[in-house]
Amino acid sequence: MADQENSDNKTADTTPNPLNPRQRSRRDFLQDASTAAVVGTAVPVLGIRSATAQQPDTIPAAKTTIQLSVNGSNHTVDVEDRWTLAELLRDHLQLTGTKIGCDRSECGACTVLMNGVPVYSCSQLAVWAEGAEVTTVEGLMSKGELSPLQQAFVDNNGPQCGFCTPGQLMTATALLNRNSAPSAQQVKTAMVGNLCRCSNYNAIVEAVVSVAGKSGGVA
Ligand code: FES
Ligand code: FES
Repeated sequence: MADQENSDNKTADTTPNPLNPRQRSRRDFLQDASTAAVVGTAVPVLGIRSATAQQPDTIPAAKTTIQLSVNGSNHTVDVEDRWTLAELLRDHLQLTGTKIGCDRSECGACTVLMNGVPVYSCSQLAVWAEGAEVTTVEGLMSKGELSPLQQAFVDNNGPQCGFCTPGQLMTATALLNRNSAPSAQQVKTAMVGNLCRCSNYNAIVEAVVSVAGKSGGVA
């Protein structure tokens, strides 16, 4: 009985608690939001500078000196800590063969090899490449000759628009370096992280399978 009374008492207390978001109506929320918007608009009109506006216009970006090898050439570079590896390669080492599609780890267009492992360069900080051996699509040719895999892409119409091709080549190169004669299914599995907006997947798989036993990987 006592429990029933306590329970009834809790149910009967309907006084709104303004600090409890569950008890605030949609109207309360909209009123608060429009008040905040008015205040936010009024501050510059009144000549009051917000805390954000008082920050210096530019804050020097933190930099780190890294050493890395790219396609067999050694580089010592001052990189801003916010740069991605793709930015370093494309904007500062002029290796624009690496493409940026989504810029958020979804398409694989930016794939390069870091110490032989395919990585999305859009999602690797440049500072993480300290001491690494990086290979880009520009590093696949040898003595002016396309690698067997590159030639196979040409022969099998692997590129359509070609935007995804550098990333496809890098992932396939890594696969061929560890398995010189992959099956079609192994190619599909290895390259699942490389999208082709032209949907030219069959030709790409055929190209990779066709270099079985031809040392299609990095020269
Ligand atoms: S650009 Fe890097 S995964 Fe798409
Ligand atoms: S060939 Fe066009 S996105 Fe793959």
